[in-house]
Amino acid sequence: MTVVGMQGDLLKDGLARVQSEIDSVFDAFLPVPSDTRARLVEAMRYAAIGGGKRVRPLLVVTTAELFGVDRTAALRAGAALEAIHCYSLIHDDLPCMDDDDLRHGKATLHQVYDEATAVLAGDALHALAFEILADPETSADPFVRSELISTLGLASGMNGMAGGQMMDMVADEDGVTYDLQAITRLQQLKTGALLSCSVEMGAILGKVPVEGRTHLRAYSRDIGLAFQIADDLLDVTGDAEKAGKALRKDEEQGKQTFVTLMGVDKAREQARVLVDQAIGHLSSHGSEADTLRALARFIVERDR
Ligand code: IPE
Ligand code: IPE
Ligand code: MG
Ligand code: MG
Ligand code: MG
Repeated sequence: MTVVGMQGDLLKDGLARVQSEIDSVFDAFLPVPSDTRARLVEAMRYAAIGGGKRVRPLLVVTTAELFGVDRTAALRAGAALEAIHCYSLIHDDLPCMDDDDLRHGKATLHQVYDEATAVLAGDALHALAFEILADPETSADPFVRSELISTLGLASGMNGMAGGQMMDMVADEDGVTYDLQAITRLQQLKTGALLSCSVEMGAILGKVPVEGRTHLRAYSRDIGLAFQIADDLLDVTGDAEKAGKALRKDEEQGKQTFVTLMGVDKAREQARVLVDQAIGHLSSHGSEADTLRALARFIVERDR
């Protein structure tokens, strides 16, 4: 199963376009001030511009497109989400967390600047996300803005990414052993929450009533879980040069993942089942959802 033909082209073009658009949005939001805050904003630019695959913004934009949302609005919401993602990576790489030296094929932020700047750049990207969503330019409708803000807040905090990161860190400690159910929860919070949030934000911008979102939630839940399984598989079987980050670290750092629990083959099989299931949830859509289908396949086949 490879992402080939028309769906593959759709995905390649979609990712390339969103990558350059998100870079432009961040460039506009992050002018470097001519005072001693310059270091902070330079660091934010270092982490946020260039490098990432931009899977989350593509999910926002593609879902929003299904419901005829203006692209500029969807890109703003995508950039807000990506700001949270970039902040989570800056902090994830710190010596007190995963202690990594390489991210997006270049030195991690705390290596180039210092730990204090890395903490502050993460803090400020976190705040920027909500500034963008609260701005009427993202949506003229205050109900839409409020729902975007609460959805991203939920996906980022104790019931989302930060909660999952805590579970991940605690797994390193003696005596904490997770079973399959607990690892599923950890992954859903750590990674699944922001991926699900991407799709949800597209639907919110499209003013889709909650009843109309059920199949999209099922799709995004499956790809969210598959995404972290693929990341954990890459850690064991991937090429660090292509991934742009250090690999073979999870076991040494005592991480507990689907791969450590069930082995490479079964974890890969599980990821494929999830992707097929995710695509199945899109059956009510025609070719307009082909990018979402291709994205689901890309998530398990990617090498970075
Ligand atoms: C990496 O996410 C961290 C996880 C949540 C698994 P991505 O693979 O999306 O990171 P980018 O594309 O390098 O930004
Ligand atoms: C990080 O998971 C998830 C985040 C919320 C940042 P990992 O620690 O496995 O991500 P990588 O492998 O460093 O990209
Ligand atoms: Mg980590
Ligand atoms: Mg890490
Ligand atoms: Mg990883």
